[in-house]
Amino acid sequence: MIFLTGSTGFLGRHLVPLLKERGLQTRCLIRENSKTDCLGDSCEDKVIGDILNEASLKYCMRGVDTVIHLAGVRMETGPASFEGIFYLGTRHVVDVAKASGVKRFIFLSTYGARPKAKSRFHHFKWLAEEYLKHSGLKYTILRPTVIYGSSDHFVTRWARKLKVLPIVPILGKGGNLLQPIYVEDVARCVIQSLEDPAKSEKIYELGGPDRLAFRKIVRLIGEISGHRRRLFYWPLSWVKAFAYFMELLFPHPPFTSDEMLRWMEDRVCDHHVIEKEFGLKLTPFQEGLKKFLK
Ligand SMILES: NC(=O)c1ccc[n+]([C@@H]2O[C@H](COP(=O)([O-])OP(=O)(O)OC[C@H]3O[C@@H](n4cnc5c(N)ncnc54)[C@H](OP(=O)(O)O)[C@@H]3O)[C@@H](O)[C@H]2O)c1
Repeated sequence: MIFLTGSTGFLGRHLVPLLKERGLQTRCLIRENSKTDCLGDSCEDKVIGDILNEASLKYCMRGVDTVIHLAGVRMETGPASFEGIFYLGTRHVVDVAKASGVKRFIFLSTYGARPKAKSRFHHFKWLAEEYLKHSGLKYTILRPTVIYGSSDHFVTRWARKLKVLPIVPILGKGGNLLQPIYVEDVARCVIQSLEDPAKSEKIYELGGPDRLAFRKIVRLIGEISGHRRRLFYWPLSWVKAFAYFMELLFPHPPFTSDEMLRWMEDRVCDHHVIEKEFGLKLTPFQEGLKKFLK
């Protein structure tokens, strides 16, 4: 039995039907207020709990032998800080998994997770990785660059901006390099990680086959969605000030300084490693976009 956290998130919604298709019995963790319509009938076994509440996990994880831990947040709000969700939350899931005799643990970390990272997102994902690595559980850690696909947090957001704005502002000169990976390719890597014992005690960086400058990505989204726009390059000092005021004014700011730190970094890796180790032909970016943008 697989225990899945983050089932109602972007990746979870794409992964759950694939797990079902493969006949893998899955128990989905949801919260009291989670919107579960997105799961349809693909997960029959749903349990209510919260990774911030260790006691709630003990009941949810009875009889489980595998954990896929996807739960996360994109920005910090109240107790749902990066430290809370990524580090403490992961500690709870790992501790309960150990006590429940779990045999395999797949953790969705992030590209850029490293010690002394400036971004809190990267720092606390790294601390969570370290905790898992030293737990004695058989783990696989996946570090995606940026994942895209239907109802994602990346392409969908830019497609919306391109649709409504006559001129679209982008960070700095937009020259930072990204290797977006299609959501179904990530879901396949997750499934293979849990089925193949050779993937145990390994960390994989997940990136797609195309290495593109950020401004090129925004242009491609515009072309394929039929909304080509002029781009306006925001000087970084403006972006910093904008993020600062957004954080002061809004409890859920549309943009934060931590996000800015992450977005300014290149996110590139050797995708041939994934193609070889997982036996996958990764989806080219434009082909992936056409699957859901048109
Ligand atoms: N998407 C990307 O490009 C990307 C890139 C790098 C790494 N990652 C990592 O990959 C994982 C999945 O990403 P995603 O884009 O699918 O995330 P997402 O769409 O933001 O979904 C987050 C999920 O976590 C759940 N969650 C949040 N707080 C929780 C808590 N306290 N207890 C239990 N569940 C909780 C949410 O449940 P509710 O529905 O109740 O809110 C939701 O199901 C995340 O760990 C993320 O950091 C993603």
